[in-house]
Amino acid sequence: MKRKFLKVVEKDFDIVNSLIIEYLESDVGLVENIGHYIVDAGGKRFRPLLVLLSALANGYKGADHTKMAVIVEFIHTATLLHDDVVDVASLRRGRQTANIQWGNAPSVLVGDFLYSRAFQLLVQVADMSIMRVMADATNVISEGEVKQMSNAGNAELTEITYRDVIYRKTAKLFEAACRVGAILANVEEADMLEFGKHLGMAFQITDDLLDYHGTREVIGKNIGSDLAEGKMTLPLIYTRDNGNEKISKLIRKSVATKSAEGFELILDEIEKSGGLLYCQAQAESEVRLAKNSLKALPSTKYKDALIELADFSIQRVR
Ligand code: IPE
Ligand code: IPE
Ligand code: MG
Ligand code: MG
Repeated sequence: MKRKFLKVVEKDFDIVNSLIIEYLESDVGLVENIGHYIVDAGGKRFRPLLVLLSALANGYKGADHTKMAVIVEFIHTATLLHDDVVDVASLRRGRQTANIQWGNAPSVLVGDFLYSRAFQLLVQVADMSIMRVMADATNVISEGEVKQMSNAGNAELTEITYRDVIYRKTAKLFEAACRVGAILANVEEADMLEFGKHLGMAFQITDDLLDYHGTREVIGKNIGSDLAEGKMTLPLIYTRDNGNEKISKLIRKSVATKSAEGFELILDEIEKSGGLLYCQAQAESEVRLAKNSLKALPSTKYKDALIELADFSIQRVR
């Protein structure tokens, strides 16, 4: 990801990557093995970038932003370990998932290690407002995952409920990352909160589209898994309501029975019905809202990087 937004924070980003390794430290071998396995596979490090850029774009001059970036990435990584168990996923960041490699129990427990390590580090930062933002975000993410699980197989899910689920499971952490930047910089949080929230919505809508229209090589995850898990995501919701009746029925059946049956036919209809364009338009509209919330931010290279990152969130490949 050699992009401009990376270039402006290159030094801090390198510090974040070394701190990630440093803070993974544990004298329990399996914790380090699994921790390194998922962390070394890379990932876009999107959320740490948001912390760094949100702080710097608001004039932050201290050094806690790198630690906060690690904390946010650890919480994200913990959710991935847990999410792959819940979703019975087999591929992540182009590699076998930890649950396939080691099993469910080790994945869940190392996920817990990462969560609690994040909170140990938060205590070091010792800022009650930041602590509150992170505690609340972590809590809401788990509600989002539970709400999604409760709705697996529900073919009648509405766009409103879908949006609520993705706000909680994904956008909340983006929002928190940006709020933390503002709190560190000692500025009013509202604009950064809005930026992160809309960016997170755009990001998850895009992720859900990539589950149909991406490729395994490019996204580093298997495609078609949402359908097989009975997840009613935006491309399906739109196509169920606007596509041809036969495919609409097929969608309901595949979701209700949690099977990838008819994936190709459904994929085709997502495109024909305008579902692909609809999802892209929704993601673009979230990006527009995100950028609008930066209007009052002074012009700096960091602000430009945030704008570039917003555009990247819907073009991302992996
Ligand atoms: C995956 O997040 C989980 C979602 C919210 C879609 P990312 O796509 O940011 O995962 P990595 O960290 O880059 O692997
Ligand atoms: C992931 O949602 C959200 C969290 C990890 C909290 P998904 O289940 O859609 O993410 P992927 O597609 O597995 O990365
Ligand atoms: Mg998943
Ligand atoms: Mg997904």
